[in-house]
Amino acid sequence: MSTVVITGTQWGDEGKGKIVDYLAQQAETVVRFQGGSNAGHTVMVNGEAYKLRQLPSGILYEGTHNVIGNGVVVDPEVVLQEMEGMEKRGIDVSGIRISDRAHVVMPYHRLMDGLGDEQKGAGKVGTTKRGIGPCYMDRDDRIGIRICDLMEKETFAEKLKVNLARKNKELQALYGHEPLDYDKIFGEYQGYAERLRPYVCDTIVLVNEEIDAGRKVLFEGAQATMLDIDYGTYPYVTASHPISGGVTVGAGVPPKKIDKVVGVVKAYCTRVGEGPFPTEQLNEIGEKIRNEGHEYGVVTGRPRRTGWLDAVVVRYAGVISGIDYMAITRLDILDNFEEIKMCVGYKYKDEVLTSVPASLKIVEQCEPVYETFKGWQCDITGIRSYADLPSAAKKYLERMAEVTGIKVGIVSVGPNRDETIVVAQDIFGK
Ligand code: IMP
Repeated sequence: MSTVVITGTQWGDEGKGKIVDYLAQQAETVVRFQGGSNAGHTVMVNGEAYKLRQLPSGILYEGTHNVIGNGVVVDPEVVLQEMEGMEKRGIDVSGIRISDRAHVVMPYHRLMDGLGDEQKGAGKVGTTKRGIGPCYMDRDDRIGIRICDLMEKETFAEKLKVNLARKNKELQALYGHEPLDYDKIFGEYQGYAERLRPYVCDTIVLVNEEIDAGRKVLFEGAQATMLDIDYGTYPYVTASHPISGGVTVGAGVPPKKIDKVVGVVKAYCTRVGEGPFPTEQLNEIGEKIRNEGHEYGVVTGRPRRTGWLDAVVVRYAGVISGIDYMAITRLDILDNFEEIKMCVGYKYKDEVLTSVPASLKIVEQCEPVYETFKGWQCDITGIRSYADLPSAAKKYLERMAEVTGIKVGIVSVGPNRDETIVVAQDIFGK
């Protein structure tokens, strides 16, 4: 058995795409288990950037199976556009499989996501407006439309009729928005259904059979722990479970079949959208991090909020997801800093907290406790072995491992596939 889960430890955008892509070289199957087109993974191959939203990053490897699991909310328009884009660039998409149990993002979900969040005023989450929350809401309200429903013309027609009647009432009453047209949506989605049909199957059977046959399966998390609906900075979170446990409900795989968990940690912190961010730097340091790291959203183009590494958050992610190894990304972005800081605790009243409090009021009153490190101030992108890293960089990484209680498994020193230092050779199998 050889299964690895990749999970984000911060607020997303840690560079999971690159780590998944790197490990996908060894995997036979790559599975997405939560989220939807709110995700934005950029993978660099031979100097070319591939931006992925719904498709698993394994798509860039010939011969891999790429599974969109039942826990993902599927926007057919986005998936099909992405597949077309890949084919145009000569990438084979025939190995894609989409769960018949996954829920379908509808036009009213996207519309209500934007309208609903704006209406929250100062309390808005700052969602990606891709309909993710409203689609999961319909699932939990047991009125959602699944891929298997979309495949059955009559079932889809009936469900759409009932749902649209209700959504149009809500659109008018809550937002003064004109009603959406049934025939237009029905026609559009019937077109999607026919194009998606060859890729739809029971992915639970597929993935479990692959694991049982000893094939290497990689589970690719989107978003991250601090955006998890239960474990993140609620309510400023997404609507799914990016933690490693999300694999069990989002792909139909029992916990005992998960071998290893890799937590992706950006060497500093970023966040898009609203909500607490204890180590945020609203000053020239934050600007320097944003400029050096080109920190702008893949999906929305929004400038990301930036700050120092928060080891409390990474430690918390490690506890929840059982992280075996950290994959530390974008260490090279810190190449030109004289001093680097790391938050190792939160000072709250007379205590120093080492886990993330639930109450946002308490989080707001926490003062980060920083340790300061000397910067290495040289270009590390050409380094390929841990031993060759400057001692100042090693000190920073070693302290990170100490505070979080998680071993360093991979260090990424640049966006390209080969700009990677592998410390742990046993991530996939022995
Ligand atoms: P939603 O997932 O569109 O509902 O947005 C909820 C929150 O999660 C917002 O703060 C988004 O900015 C954030 N979010 C969603 N997807 C990503 C991602 O892939 N990277 C970073 N933040 C994300």
